[in-house]
Amino acid sequence: MKIENLSQLIKLAKESSMKAYVPYSEFRVGVALLMNSGKIHTGCNVEFADYLALHAEINAIGTAINGGETDIIAVVVYSYSSPPALPCGSCRQKLYEFSLLNKHDISIIAINDKDEKIEMVLSELLPGGEIKVVKK
Ligand code: THU
Ligand code: ZN
Repeated sequence: MKIENLSQLIKLAKESSMKAYVPYSEFRVGVALLMNSGKIHTGCNVEFADYLALHAEINAIGTAINGGETDIIAVVVYSYSSPPALPCGSCRQKLYEFSLLNKHDISIIAINDKDEKIEMVLSELLPGGEIKVVKK
């Protein structure tokens, strides 16, 4: 999938990663979601003493939902690891929710501070995700 304003999405994901609250892992992640409306929602990871972190993807999804939007076109994940971090299994499943709801695939772009980039679509990252377990 060709994303028009990818450099803007990367900039916003990076800015979000810089706001991550990560006293336990020190592993910063920032996410920018491009919506079908053209709007962009962001989120960073947030860690707690119980070690149950709020993943950046889920923080961004929460922001999008709070903004009244569900139709995610692309997800940019900014991290400082090599290779760049892709969404974990749990986040893939949660993103798939909105792929099902809006009946289209979602682009996933993982990028790091070395400019290494992985571009995939969600259906490649979560084979079988189309099997519905909830009535829609
Ligand atoms: N993390 C994310 O924010 N997204 C992912 O998909 C992978 C992991 C965060 C959670 C935790 O704060 C840190 O990265 C280390 O796992
Ligand atoms: Zn995750």
